[in-house]
Amino acid sequence: MQNKDLLQSFENYLLDNLPISKSFHPVFEEALANMLQAGGKRFRPMLVLNVVQAINPTLLKNAMAPALAIEFLHTYSLIHDDLPAMDDADLRRGHPTLHVTYDEVTAILVGDALNTHAFNLLANASLSNDIKIELIKTLSSDGGIDGMIIGQAIDCYFENTPIELQKLEFLHIHKTAKLIAGSLKMGAIISNIDEKTIKELYQFGIDIGLLFQIQDDIIDETATEEEAGKTTANDGDKNSFVNLLGLEGAITSADELAKKCEDNLNSFDETLKNGLSELLLKYIYRHKN
Ligand code: IPE
Ligand code: IPE
Ligand code: MG
Ligand code: MG
Ligand code: MG
Repeated sequence: MQNKDLLQSFENYLLDNLPISKSFHPVFEEALANMLQAGGKRFRPMLVLNVVQAINPTLLKNAMAPALAIEFLHTYSLIHDDLPAMDDADLRRGHPTLHVTYDEVTAILVGDALNTHAFNLLANASLSNDIKIELIKTLSSDGGIDGMIIGQAIDCYFENTPIELQKLEFLHIHKTAKLIAGSLKMGAIISNIDEKTIKELYQFGIDIGLLFQIQDDIIDETATEEEAGKTTANDGDKNSFVNLLGLEGAITSADELAKKCEDNLNSFDETLKNGLSELLLKYIYRHKN
């Protein structure tokens, strides 16, 4: 299936699987659906689906629930990231952030609900229990205390305190790269491929994820809010790549890492390389557009 059709299947699956619990809360269900329906690039679920499509396309249907689980966890991380206590941003995915449209309580609880429901989706997926446990381990680790959460904690704690380059990499690998690497790994787990390739894909995903965050820091510096669909010029206090390396330095760093990622992509076997190239080449060079 072409990526545009795969993306459309994912969007349809998302719409059919919005967790709409029926209660007498006047806006909670609407708020829960708001950010999921607002859009987003769907990079992480597409990574899962591209790996599965390349290796074992008969499992694509079964991979939709884990792909959605990652998007739920990622969307929750964005909703919390935008809260006044964190990055204090008003715009996300081209729409006012949830704490602006509704209130902070609603934004916090929608985030909580998406986080919890991600694991509910994994537990109920049409896959063997062994596979599901491996998926739960990966998402809870890369999206949790071994990954995104500790990255976010460091990101916020060290505002206005410059950190050295090695720590900068630790921060961004945890904050962003691990969930992206975890997406490739989850696709690999679903497809039942060998341990060695799973490890290679994960390591490759760390580089892709680090590059993704360098590019995101460049976007904060160079894009308008309309272009980015989110609040920009918001990293002034952050240990962003742009603040620590300068804009030119961040671009050079992105160029070097992009080259490394393209070389590594080409070193995978033909099946994986062909299955991932269309999506990844678009992202590897997105800072050039
Ligand atoms: C933004 O992620 C947060 C980062 C980790 C840089 P995306 O750029 O993937 O956001 P959406 O999902 O497209 O909105
Ligand atoms: C956030 O990084 C990463 C997350 C874990 C959500 P940023 O704070 O740079 O993401 P944006 O720029 O707000 O999307
Ligand atoms: Mg942030
Ligand atoms: Mg932010
Ligand atoms: Mg950013």
